[in-house]
Amino acid sequence: MKTYEKLLLENKAWAKEKIEDDPTFFDRLAHLQTPEFLWIGCSDSRVPANEITGTQPGEIFVHRNIANMVVNTDLNLLSVLQYAVEILKVKHIIVCGHYGCGGVKAAMTNHNYGIINKWLRNIKDVYRFHRKEVDSILNEDEQVNRMVELNVQEQVMNLAKTSIVQKSWKENLHPHIHGWVYDLHDGIIKPVFEMKAGTHIDPIYEFDDL
Ligand code: CO
Repeated sequence: MKTYEKLLLENKAWAKEKIEDDPTFFDRLAHLQTPEFLWIGCSDSRVPANEITGTQPGEIFVHRNIANMVVNTDLNLLSVLQYAVEILKVKHIIVCGHYGCGGVKAAMTNHNYGIINKWLRNIKDVYRFHRKEVDSILNEDEQVNRMVELNVQEQVMNLAKTSIVQKSWKENLHPHIHGWVYDLHDGIIKPVFEMKAGTHIDPIYEFDDL
């Protein structure tokens, strides 16, 4: 059997199991999704949002990219964000990074990776903001891991800089934004940063006519 054929076979077994557990499962989900969470995570295959949080289809709206970035010119991310906040009205946004992230590691080098350079540039900016702290760490892996935490923090703040989030904070008092880091070694998620609705941000990023 080819590897991809196994996926299709497993899918049939999964669907059968779901129906056995709950005969209305697919009917219900086919008509409506009402997730409470938007997940912005890394594309890394070892960090699947639903599996590590024990959530089911329908519970988390997911966006993933290299190193869980919130880039303010990324139409893909912004479209997901707008839909999640304005239409689905999610109560929480979770930015989830992971220790040992290859994207963060790559950004900390001077290698020329081609087109990926443009994406990694955003992570290099995070390093530049926090250079003093990161450089004071002597161990290279620990440097990367602290950068992973700081990157999550910066991406949470990037969400708060969008007019989408600011408008919803003003009108609905949510979403609550969480910065988490997943540890590949023990499977545990550590909360590292959060911003509740209405949290003060640097005034230069505040819009006055939302
Ligand atoms: Co990663």
